[in-house]
Amino acid sequence: MNETIKQLFERKSVRVFEDKEISPEDKELILRAATEAPTAGNQQLYTIIDVTSAEKKARLAESCDHQPFIEKAKMVMIFCADPLKWYKAFCDGGCEPRDIGLGDLFISVSDANIAAQNAVVAAHSLGIGSCYIGDIMENREVQKDILELPDYVFPAAMLVFGYPTEKQKEREKPHRADLKYIVSENGYPEMDSEYLRGMLKYSMGEENYPVKLKAFCERKYNSDFSREMTRSVSEYVKEYTKDGVE
Ligand SMILES: Cc1cc2nc3c(=O)[nH]c(=O)nc-3n(C[C@H](O)[C@H](O)[C@H](O)COP(=O)(O)O)c2cc1C
Repeated sequence: MNETIKQLFERKSVRVFEDKEISPEDKELILRAATEAPTAGNQQLYTIIDVTSAEKKARLAESCDHQPFIEKAKMVMIFCADPLKWYKAFCDGGCEPRDIGLGDLFISVSDANIAAQNAVVAAHSLGIGSCYIGDIMENREVQKDILELPDYVFPAAMLVFGYPTEKQKEREKPHRADLKYIVSENGYPEMDSEYLRGMLKYSMGEENYPVKLKAFCERKYNSDFSREMTRSVSEYVKEYTKDGVE
């Protein structure tokens, strides 16, 4: 296994950080590595918001499903899917751009997420841990206000960074499903009951599968935060399907 692949296998989410600052040089390196990611048409359809304000971090810790470790992170970055900047440039340059639409949202979300993952990998290589915060997609109105987001700019990924505590370093990384359940040759696989149980063995184990699955469904899929995220993202989609940019 080469060093790059070894690091991909070793990386795990870090939620408890040492009280140690990330140097400006390392911060810049992580951000520059993010922007070296592949990007559709080399357009960089994202804007990264570097949250340095303690007050904003505290508000995000609350608005992102009350996760206090967000506030304690040494670096908080929001990767916003941003098709608006090119649209603005087109208008500014006298072009006649069509309205921004759902395709622009999807491609810019891809761009933002790919850049974010480069930041994760770069940070890990420097001994800096990170964790995604999916809840940035909840509470659209609040996040929009905190981050001063215009319409058509969608906070696709939030990352918190910091040096992992010893305990975090020692924590076992969660296992993944067997590759045969993740990769399917030439088409989508048939997923019968046996297949689904086999696929989820890594997470649910074999004993008490129905009980554990039900508990997981309630805790995650049916949870208030998951319902709120669905509401919030639907609102963004509506924004993209209304006529034109105001
Ligand atoms: C899109 C996305 C959203 C996530 N949101 C959160 C979150 O809000 N809070 C959290 O503690 N971890 C969050 N995580 C981290 C996952 O829980 C973690 O990646 C998963 O359990 C696998 O563990 P590992 O990253 O240590 O391998 C998120 C990860 C992703 C990719």
